[in-house]
Amino acid sequence: MDRREFLKQTSLLSVLPWVPAAIAAVPAGRRSMLELTAREGTAQLADEGGPRTRIWGYNGLVPGPMIRVKQNDWVRARLTNRLTVATTIHWHGIRIDNAMDGVSGLTQDAVKPGQSFDYAFQVPDAGTFWYHAHTRSWEQVARGLYGVLIVDEAEPVAVDNDYVLVIDDWRLGQDAQIHEASLGSLHDWSHAGRLGQWLTVNGKPHEKFSVEDGQRLRLRVVNTANARVFTLSFGALKPHVIAFDGQPVTPRPLGKFLTIAPAQRADLIIDMAADPGESAAVDVITRREVIQVAEFVYGHTRDANAKLSAPLISRLPANPLSTALDLTDPVRTGLLMEGGAMSGMKSAILKGERRSIQELIKQGAVWAFNETVGMTDTPLVSARRGQTVVIDLRNQNRWPHAMHLHGHHFKVIEREGSAVDDDAWRDTELVQPGESVSIAFVADNPGKWLLHCHMLEHRAGGMTTWLEIT
Ligand code: C2O
Ligand code: CU
Repeated sequence: MDRREFLKQTSLLSVLPWVPAAIAAVPAGRRSMLELTAREGTAQLADEGGPRTRIWGYNGLVPGPMIRVKQNDWVRARLTNRLTVATTIHWHGIRIDNAMDGVSGLTQDAVKPGQSFDYAFQVPDAGTFWYHAHTRSWEQVARGLYGVLIVDEAEPVAVDNDYVLVIDDWRLGQDAQIHEASLGSLHDWSHAGRLGQWLTVNGKPHEKFSVEDGQRLRLRVVNTANARVFTLSFGALKPHVIAFDGQPVTPRPLGKFLTIAPAQRADLIIDMAADPGESAAVDVITRREVIQVAEFVYGHTRDANAKLSAPLISRLPANPLSTALDLTDPVRTGLLMEGGAMSGMKSAILKGERRSIQELIKQGAVWAFNETVGMTDTPLVSARRGQTVVIDLRNQNRWPHAMHLHGHHFKVIEREGSAVDDDAWRDTELVQPGESVSIAFVADNPGKWLLHCHMLEHRAGGMTTWLEIT
């Protein structure tokens, strides 16, 4: 984050026109067609008064338009490609019809420049989701092609305010433009991925929320970074987690920090208690710095009777997931995660042939699952609809990986050989270096589904495979 100060100092280069807030809610529903045009745009990523950054965004915005629908609604969205390269949209975390999953080369052809594609799907689960480019995503997400998708519970949840905090890190040059020369850098691919040095929340350097004493907030935190795991501190606030990755969990105190890996979401409940004029901060903690990214500013106090009398936080209504795991006779497979810098991988299979690490490096093929780089002709797992699938992830390298499964949510059933007792159902799980994690899910959604690392450079470098459910 060392350029933050620098950008502050070089802020006053030009006078720029005022633009409306980056997150504009777009109504969706049974009838209306959302227009999502992937195109170039600019965003005020740097501090106010500084240069605008040229980005790629849906409708030219970062984040893209916020899509908000009710549980079981249909989303109809026309992607129009006004870029010079092909693209697709993936609806991350939505248990979607396979044909709408947006994975170019697996579930659809990439949408060419000038062309469009209509997505239409029903949203079975209420919760916090997001959408992003899924063609060369390591470049397209880094340039800004993502947005938030909120699915509201059928019965509204009792909170006074519902806020979103989309966290991203950008690698900007000294001109506040995206550092393009390092897109695709082998160093990034073989290490932690593309890490930025400039933080944004909701597409700007800092967010301010107005609150009142006695209010209860729902805060939806979304990590849209290519590769950075964020550690958030809420200072004196005492948030409770009510959902991870869109799925309700038994409400639990957050503890000291929120660790949120790329693509993960966390829904928090925060009860505000302070006098007018006071404020509370949300900080991102890095090894070297504490960066305030958001602030809750207390306005006038409502009359005392309006204060929350019952501090109880109830569990969100369950989504219609198949949670009945049959662990007596699952389809079970191992996934050995290898590669990356300092990890000693000597060779791996690339396009059917074993190659030495020297040859692999030349092609950026520096990661492997089960000794194989990237996609294979046959799936890692094929399961029949309704079967329980268990995947034993073994991270045998020096890097953390945010493992994401498409089309399903899974439960972590074992970590380091010990049973895990948690009611979280996730679509993305952070697996630490050296760690073994077993995940399980009911294969109830037919189709071809990716399983990959969501550190997007790792995926591009080979950490991707697929499952088939028939
Ligand atoms: Cu959000 Cu295949 O990814
Ligand atoms: Cu990874």
